[in-house]
Amino acid sequence: MTKPLILMTDAAHYDVVYSINPWMQPDLWAKDALGARRSAWRASAALTQALEAAGADIETIPGVAGLPDMVFPANAAVVLDGTALMARFRYPQRRGEEAEFLRAFEDLQARGLIDRIVALPAGLRHEGAGDGLWDAGRELFWVGHGPRSDAAAAGVIADVFGKPAQPLALASERFYHLDTCFCPLSGGEVLYYPPAFDTRSQSAIRDRVAAQDLIVASDEDAARLCVNAVCIGKTVVMAKAADRLKAVLGERGYRVVEVDLAPFLLSGGAAFCMTLRLDLKSQPAASRPQAVAVREQHR
Ligand code: ARG
Repeated sequence: MTKPLILMTDAAHYDVVYSINPWMQPDLWAKDALGARRSAWRASAALTQALEAAGADIETIPGVAGLPDMVFPANAAVVLDGTALMARFRYPQRRGEEAEFLRAFEDLQARGLIDRIVALPAGLRHEGAGDGLWDAGRELFWVGHGPRSDAAAAGVIADVFGKPAQPLALASERFYHLDTCFCPLSGGEVLYYPPAFDTRSQSAIRDRVAAQDLIVASDEDAARLCVNAVCIGKTVVMAKAADRLKAVLGERGYRVVEVDLAPFLLSGGAAFCMTLRLDLKSQPAASRPQAVAVREQHR
């Protein structure tokens, strides 16, 4: 396996000054904004360290004053096979990030870390990997829609990347991005929080994922934003977790690495959305197990 390459944003300009999801409490934050920003900076550094220790290379871009949520680069783009499909944000508070992330991605492209940058069709909203999760085992995208992203974006993702895209309707404002309630793991399991989905989407998940591979997050796990996790091999990096979840993942051979991300939970974000994988590759058609089987049959 080549080393995972993860994009992060320097947390120097992180802040909670507006509220575009129910987790964000600018008033609470303002009581000790300086202290909160300092602990956020430390928490971000701890996350970087945990990801590096898990075997990833980290590429850090600078933040921009006045765009505090740039610290969540998962929302910048959907990236697979060297192609980046740039996001379009729902709320004006985040729209300024689009030009900044585009510039950052053009830089990454110039350095050969990304091959191709694609824009969404005019008028369509989609918030990047936050609502577009690549499931490497199933070779498909899970695409969240409702609070932030438009349902029609799933078709665009399928076209741009040439992969199936399963839309999932998010049923609450609290779990406003798919990555807050859904996390495909490297072994094929999916950690998810069923109440975050409407009933049709819950059955779409059960249709595509075998029962023994579904790991149900509790209310507490969801409230701690532990589903918003980064899985690297058998290591799962997440916010401070409950013992039960650590035990459940441990039984399946995963090692949970916790980072105290409290200052980011106050913005509705945790480990996964503070990162963006730049190196994800789909399997070339010829190396997929079925393709091999078919070729062998023809001999
Ligand atoms: N405050 C940010 C927002 O509401 C948090 C984004 C977290 N990102 C994510 N993919 N869950 O947009």
